[in-house]
Amino acid sequence: MTLTVERLPGAAQLAERAVELLEGWGAESLAERGMFHVVLSGGSTPRATYRVWGQRSRLDWGRVHLWFGDERCVPPQHPDSNAGMVEAELVADLPLPPRMLRMRGEDPDPENAAREYGRALKTHFDAGGALDVALQGIGGDGHTASLFPGQEAVRETHHLCVATLAPGGNSKRITLTPPAIKRARYLLFLAAGPDKAEIVRTVVEGTPEPVKYPAQLFLRDETLSVTLLVDEAAARLLA
Ligand code: 6PG
Repeated sequence: MTLTVERLPGAAQLAERAVELLEGWGAESLAERGMFHVVLSGGSTPRATYRVWGQRSRLDWGRVHLWFGDERCVPPQHPDSNAGMVEAELVADLPLPPRMLRMRGEDPDPENAAREYGRALKTHFDAGGALDVALQGIGGDGHTASLFPGQEAVRETHHLCVATLAPGGNSKRITLTPPAIKRARYLLFLAAGPDKAEIVRTVVEGTPEPVKYPAQLFLRDETLSVTLLVDEAAARLLA
C-alpha cells in the first residue's frame, strides 16, 4: 500500500475532491458488501467536507453506518460536539438518515463511554464487519483523532477506544486508538491552510517520530492505503 498525496488549489477544491473519493469508496463498499462503514472526525477541515458531502451525495444512506474517530466529552447538543457537528453539517442535508453510533460524550465517566464504544466496534469486527473509510484531520501539533503527542493512547495496541485529555488538560476526549483506525480499508487525511504547512512537511517528509507526531502512525505505515489531501497553502513546504 502507499501514501498518496494530492495537492488541490484551495480548501473548496479539497472538500470537493474528498467528497469524490468518499462517494467512490462508498459506491464500491455498497456494491461489494451492501454497507458502507465510515469513521468521521471533528475539526474545521473535515467539517467543510461534510457540508459539501451532504449536498452532493448520491449514496444510498440507508445503508451507510457512521462511526466516530473521536469525541469531545460534552453532550451532542454542545457546540463542541463532533456528533452534533456531523448531524448539522452532513446528516441534516441527506435524503435518508444513515445509521450512526456516536461516542457518548455526555457520560460523566469517559472511560466507561470509551469501553462501551470499543465493545460495539469489537462486536462489529467479530461479526465480520469492517471499517471502509476513516476520515482524519491533522492538528497543528501532528495529532489526529484525539491521539495527542506523547500520550499513552498513541502507544495503545490492544484497546480499540480510550479516554484521553487534550493538551492543557482541560478538555476530556474519547478516541479510537491506532489499532482501531488501522482497520480502515482506506484512510483519508485532510489538511488545509497556511498554518498546516509546517506540520504537513513534518508528518510527510520528516523523520518518523509517530509518538511525537501521531498522524505519522498512519501516514508512514506502508501497510495502509492512505490518501492525504492538502491545499496549496498547506503543501507550501513539501519538496
Ligand atoms: C477534533 C478532531 C481533530 C481534528 C484536527 C484537525 O475533534 O478536533 O478529531 O483531530 O480533525 O484537530 O482540525 P482542523 O481541521 O480544524 O485543523
